[in-house]
Amino acid sequence: MDFPAKLKKYTARVEAGIERLLPPATTRPARLHTAMRYSLQAGGKRLRPVLVLAAADCFPSNENNPLPAAVAVECLHTYSLIHDDLPCMDNDDLRRGRPTAHKAFDEATALLAGDALLTHAFALLATGYAAQPALAQALLHELSDAAGSQRLIGGQMADLLAEKKADATADDLDFIHRNKTGAMIEASLVMGGLCGDAAGRHLNALRAAGRHLGLAFQITDDILDATTDSATLGKTAGKDAAADKTTFVKLHGIEASRALAAKSTAAAIAELEKLPEQAPFLVALAETMAQRTT
Ligand code: IPE
Ligand code: IPE
Ligand code: MG
Ligand code: MG
Ligand code: MG
Repeated sequence: MDFPAKLKKYTARVEAGIERLLPPATTRPARLHTAMRYSLQAGGKRLRPVLVLAAADCFPSNENNPLPAAVAVECLHTYSLIHDDLPCMDNDDLRRGRPTAHKAFDEATALLAGDALLTHAFALLATGYAAQPALAQALLHELSDAAGSQRLIGGQMADLLAEKKADATADDLDFIHRNKTGAMIEASLVMGGLCGDAAGRHLNALRAAGRHLGLAFQITDDILDATTDSATLGKTAGKDAAADKTTFVKLHGIEASRALAAKSTAAAIAELEKLPEQAPFLVALAETMAQRTT
């Protein structure tokens, strides 16, 4: 398997899907649709939509197109970044190598662009799978669960509540990471499996892999914040320490965090190896994520 070529192919499919499935920037009101595309088409890693496509490809006999689900996941993720960067949250100026949405436009436009991307994610599932109501229902259920008050949004709330908290525990930190970040990575793999009509045992393996991968991903994000420069990251480095966030680096230190990320990655790979077909690609992707520099 030529991993870089395959990854490039998946990423290109995602970019083309975004271009096609988002309203044109000129759609009225153009300022809103321009802002949606500004944040979405800024060249993120596209990890989550690639997970959707690659998980679906583990089950090649299916006929469902996973692309609307992949784009939905990236719309939802991008909304969470726009809101995460707002002054009332992490107050960041730089995202995906560009000024954040509220810097490039204004706070109200950034807030609304986030709202619109969140809503568009569900519209994409409802319309993209209208001819397969059972699949549409399962995808809507998975994404609404992952994005909801007990997962992504709950994790974001807990993240803010844990700022400047001297007595935050490892359990608090686990809750934050598994939910603010882990939930969407888990949902991406499961949604790919749903598009692939995966059997229950394979969906279970995808979910378990996503849980481990999601935790590893946010541990690595914490390490990168503390060890890499802003130009490489495309977002402001050192923000976690400046805001006194509860992170793996703060609670466990860099070396122990690296070991924990490696352990979670290995656990994810053990689950991915239970899958047929394209599992080698997903395994290589998990390894690449653990070694990433952005
Ligand atoms: C950043 O996610 C926010 C986290 C959940 C850690 P990514 O590191 O996947 O950001 P992009 O999509 O590549 O910009
Ligand atoms: C963000 O976590 C998680 C979500 C956006 C849901 P961070 O606040 O650590 O992400 P970055 O470092 O700003 O990308
Ligand atoms: Mg944050
Ligand atoms: Mg942030
Ligand atoms: Mg971070």
